[in-house]
Amino acid sequence: MGERILDVKNLKINFHTYAGDVKAIRDVSFHLDKGETLAIVGESGSGKSVTTKSLMGLLANNAEVVGGEILYHGDDLLKKSEKDMQGIRGKDIAMIFQDPMTSLDPTMKIGQQIAEPLMIHKHVEKKKAWTQALEIMKLVGIANAEERINDYPHQFSGGQRQRIVIAIALVCYPEILIADEPTTALDVTIQAQILDLMKELQQKIETSIIFITHDLGVVAGMADRVAVMYAGQIIEYGTVDEIFYNPKHPYTWGLLNSMPTLSSTKLEAIPGTPPDLLDPPKGDPFAARNPYAMKIDAEKKPPFFKVSDTHYAATWLLHPDAPKITPPDEIVRRQAIWQKMQAKANK
Ligand SMILES: Nc1ncnc2c1ncn2[C@@H]1O[C@H](COP(=O)(O)OP(=O)(O)OP(=O)(O)O)[C@@H](O)[C@H]1O
Ligand SMILES: [Mg+2]
Repeated sequence: MGERILDVKNLKINFHTYAGDVKAIRDVSFHLDKGETLAIVGESGSGKSVTTKSLMGLLANNAEVVGGEILYHGDDLLKKSEKDMQGIRGKDIAMIFQDPMTSLDPTMKIGQQIAEPLMIHKHVEKKKAWTQALEIMKLVGIANAEERINDYPHQFSGGQRQRIVIAIALVCYPEILIADEPTTALDVTIQAQILDLMKELQQKIETSIIFITHDLGVVAGMADRVAVMYAGQIIEYGTVDEIFYNPKHPYTWGLLNSMPTLSSTKLEAIPGTPPDLLDPPKGDPFAARNPYAMKIDAEKKPPFFKVSDTHYAATWLLHPDAPKITPPDEIVRRQAIWQKMQAKANK
């Protein structure tokens, strides 16, 4: 893997609300290397979007970063002024938002929307910027780009609009691309095309990608490494193979079990609900939903236990004195299916 470009350390973010402080991000650390894809997975409300919005300096007004650092090439982005962040956003770090349909300006020709970041960030003059916009439109697979460059967003289909959003995010060749559920609004075939496109573009321009999803199936095909989030914390991280074939946290087991497979498309949601982040429990936040919970889970937050140099999980089940628990049979059965699918794909 390449050079370390991003190092997030002990990030803590609260939201001030009338009900009190929502402790949305509670001591999150991760890194990103050049050219790699990190997937962040987890249930709704686990903190995926808030974490990545903080990298862009785009948190809501009621947010307060109460601790930590976001080191981009060693420079703390949290210490940058809004003006400095405007220079980084869209140029060095770009984001495809969770709701792509609303991130386009309905009153602006798409050519202008794609060309604008180039004119603002790279001071490319208008005519040249439109030529580059045309090139990137072709790159993301918009047919008849020469004609369509003068069209408005409503004249495109959902899948095409998503390609345009990707084109805008990529036009300055950002070093980091954050994709927050970039395909959830699309049908399955278009989803697959968009994901292939992102991978292709990554190879062409060596972007590092942070890919957010609650669909572990997508992760298998996209990511190098995976961070699993729960209740504002990362509770397990490792390489894709480690997370799929040697998962250690019972929450990760639950997520893997909730993945649709070819033989069953029924989603087995993890029973129970995440804790209230206004008043998070002092022990393991997953304890109340964990069928293997022990006494200590209610009392003390588990540290990260090392599984390998690249694989860590925060569960007391990894303590040397804990009973040895193996993943449920259903996970083991699924692993066998994934292995066969992988073998087929690599043939
Ligand atoms: N402006 C806000 N004010 C108060 N709480 C907020 C605000 N924005 C986010 N939160 C809370 O922060 C937590 C994390 O939210 P976030 O949007 O990061 O979840 P997520 O993992 O992206 O979920 P999803 O999969 O649904 O997109 C949630 O509990 C959410 O309610
Ligand atoms: Mg989100």
